[in-house]
Amino acid sequence: MRTDHGLPVVRLGLIGAGRIGTMHAGNIARHVPGAELAAVADTRPEAAQKLAARYDTAPVTVDELLKDPELDGVVITSLAIAHSELITRAAEAGKAVWCEKPASLTLPELDRAIAATDRADVPFQVGFNRRFAKDFAAARRTIADGGIGTPRLMRSITRDPGRPGGLRYADRIPQWTIFRETLIHDFDTLLWLNPGARPVEVYTRADALVAPEYKENGLLDTAVVMITFDNGAIATAEANFSSYYGYDVRGEVFGSEGMVVAGQLASSALEHYNASGVHQQTLRSDEEMFHDAYVQELTDFVDVVRTNGVPPVTGQDARNALQVALAAMASYEEHRPVRI
Ligand SMILES: NC(=O)c1ccc[n+]([C@@H]2O[C@H](COP(=O)([O-])OP(=O)(O)OC[C@H]3O[C@@H](n4cnc5c(N)ncnc54)[C@H](O)[C@@H]3O)[C@@H](O)[C@H]2O)c1
Repeated sequence: MRTDHGLPVVRLGLIGAGRIGTMHAGNIARHVPGAELAAVADTRPEAAQKLAARYDTAPVTVDELLKDPELDGVVITSLAIAHSELITRAAEAGKAVWCEKPASLTLPELDRAIAATDRADVPFQVGFNRRFAKDFAAARRTIADGGIGTPRLMRSITRDPGRPGGLRYADRIPQWTIFRETLIHDFDTLLWLNPGARPVEVYTRADALVAPEYKENGLLDTAVVMITFDNGAIATAEANFSSYYGYDVRGEVFGSEGMVVAGQLASSALEHYNASGVHQQTLRSDEEMFHDAYVQELTDFVDVVRTNGVPPVTGQDARNALQVALAAMASYEEHRPVRI
């Protein structure tokens, strides 16, 4: 099958029909040019069925999906604990692989997954969507072009949306989520915004300030991680699981000759002035804030599959960010700076 522009259609199978898988499925079916959502699998068959029905596609098991010779690529949006094994299996089945972050929870499993994609010679791309947001991408270009001189101070912020009444589904959030699933975005962003530099030391302070009652189960919801780079830059990554005003993601790099700031909290430029002040509508969720970036990362993946090109975010990028996350966890546990 060919697109209107004569390019071959890229047929994708999605594994993991949860919250973010549902969003990516919609993007593949409706927004990613030249892509087809050809199959949906989940260990919960009812979830696969429901999502597949929405886009008039086939609900299948993971085994069936990986064996389907018609699929060009696999999009993995399952729970993180299953990622590395699914990457490995998809590569062994000869499929191009796109996987949500984190690509793995441990370095040995990630190394096995990367080795499998190398052996099979299939493209492997990881879902660090912030890199595809226009302002973050422009920040990176400006830094790489020397527009702010040498980075000296860097910040990356993630505040997940919250509502009064504590942390929702706290009992379902795995230990270390704040480092390996939330701040992993910030670690990747900081490494990417400091091109050519290497992180050398990590120091963490973290606590359970939103849901203190879960601290003894190991659930942390507030964290600051300081990262020192070998070019001298000092960075902080911070996260909290309960932002009442909506999703809040920002980045800032201050250098020897200037500064870049990225991150847009308002849903539009509208300012509403009334007796109680000046108001703006904020973006409530990641799906709203990063819609274009989520579409772009899969648009680029489709292009990589079609051209057998180099993915814009690689397994090595996932490894670099995971290494910082693991060092941040060790620093928290051992109350000391950890060398990388
Ligand atoms: N890039 C982003 O902005 C972003 C945002 C949210 C979530 N995520 C990531 O996406 C992943 C999924 O998050 P979610 O919020 O959609 O979780 P979720 O719990 O809503 O969905 C996960 C789905 O995976 C399925 N599943 C689990 N193990 C499986 C397996 N072995 N094979 C097939 N299906 C399996 C579950 O049944 C569930 O339907 C996580 O890694 C998360 O960190 C990324």
